Amino acid sequence: MLFTSAETENLRMKNRLVRSATAESMATKEGYVTPQLMELYRKLAEGGVGTIITGYMFVSEDGRSSYKMTGISRDEHVEGLSKLVSEVKRVDKDVVFVAQLAHAGRQTTLGNAIAPSAVKDLFTGVEPREMTREDIERVIEDFINAAIRAEKAGFDAVQLHAAHGYLLSEFISPYTNRRRDEYGQERAKILLDIFEGIREKSRIPVMIKMNACDFIPGGLEIDEAVRIARLLDDAGFEAIEVSGGMYESIYHNRYNVVSQKVAKSGEAYFREYAFRIKEAVETPVIAVGGIKSLQVAESLLEKVDFVSMSRPLIRDPYLPLKMMRGETDRSDCKSCNLCLTAIFEGKPLGCYAKEGTGSP
Ligand SMILES: Cc1cc2nc3c(=O)[nH]c(=O)nc-3n(C[C@H](O)[C@H](O)[C@H](O)COP(=O)(O)O)c2cc1C
Repeated sequence: MLFTSAETENLRMKNRLVRSATAESMATKEGYVTPQLMELYRKLAEGGVGTIITGYMFVSEDGRSSYKMTGISRDEHVEGLSKLVSEVKRVDKDVVFVAQLAHAGRQTTLGNAIAPSAVKDLFTGVEPREMTREDIERVIEDFINAAIRAEKAGFDAVQLHAAHGYLLSEFISPYTNRRRDEYGQERAKILLDIFEGIREKSRIPVMIKMNACDFIPGGLEIDEAVRIARLLDDAGFEAIEVSGGMYESIYHNRYNVVSQKVAKSGEAYFREYAFRIKEAVETPVIAVGGIKSLQVAESLLEKVDFVSMSRPLIRDPYLPLKMMRGETDRSDCKSCNLCLTAIFEGKPLGCYAKEGTGSP
């Protein structure tokens, strides 16, 4: 099942395995594509995964989360991104290549953080400025323009990053969005505005990665996430990837985005959330979070449409091919998260596990 083809409304995937968006920390300081980044995606394309979602890319200059993040905020970024797409398509024209579009919101180490409301991040200590109406309109335009650039560069689709506590995730969370205007009364409004804005100018399919739960007291919970997913379904999103957690959930000692709990709680730690959303929508659903084995991936596909992996493909981009050939049926990634520590220190993405496959 995992390695059989599948379709969404506008896309055809050669299999049901997705490379979940993974920040690479490999761009130049202006956000341009580097040879190192090209090499990473060449290997992923060779490795057999059906859909590749890029690491988060900043849509606005003030939307950077860290240095070395890839940019899609300026027309000048398109040339490098086109080369990246060409490289992936040269290796395998059937890989679906998706650009993840993001704004960091309050989760930035670079200063001048903005957010729907001025709610201090208890994990990082960052105190963002509350966005004005003009800020919101400008950021919506930035997302729309970034989607058009992605289309020009040749990407097959874009994915809005509305998970993990970045700006769009902050909008849908009652904890970080305390606005009294229409963007607070309907916290999903910004997502719908961006979607409609893209649709007025382009046919590029628009996916979304959203939190089903923030794991923060007063944060987004699954019932509300289901309601929002229904709105996205009605709007015509191409696929919904279901994740959870913010940086601040670590402070609250709860689950986070890249949980290490896999060994204790079993694989696919967000599975129940993906199932709940799948029951409520017709849009294809992608499950993510701690999926390591062929067996678990196959069992998830009885209920959802796609499964997504990040850390296992950092560990070994050729894992899908090896699974297809029957050489292995599980990743040996231990979710140690040294890959995550590395990118936060500005090092390039790679498996840094002590017994790992070595440097990138
Ligand atoms: C090093 C690293 C970078 C990540 N960068 C992103 C990102 O840019 N965008 C995103 O949506 N998720 C990002 N994630 C989260 C993953 O996409 C995924 O949701 C999470 O790691 C759980 O999946 P896994 O258990 O297969 O790793 C990142 C995770 C890691 C480990």
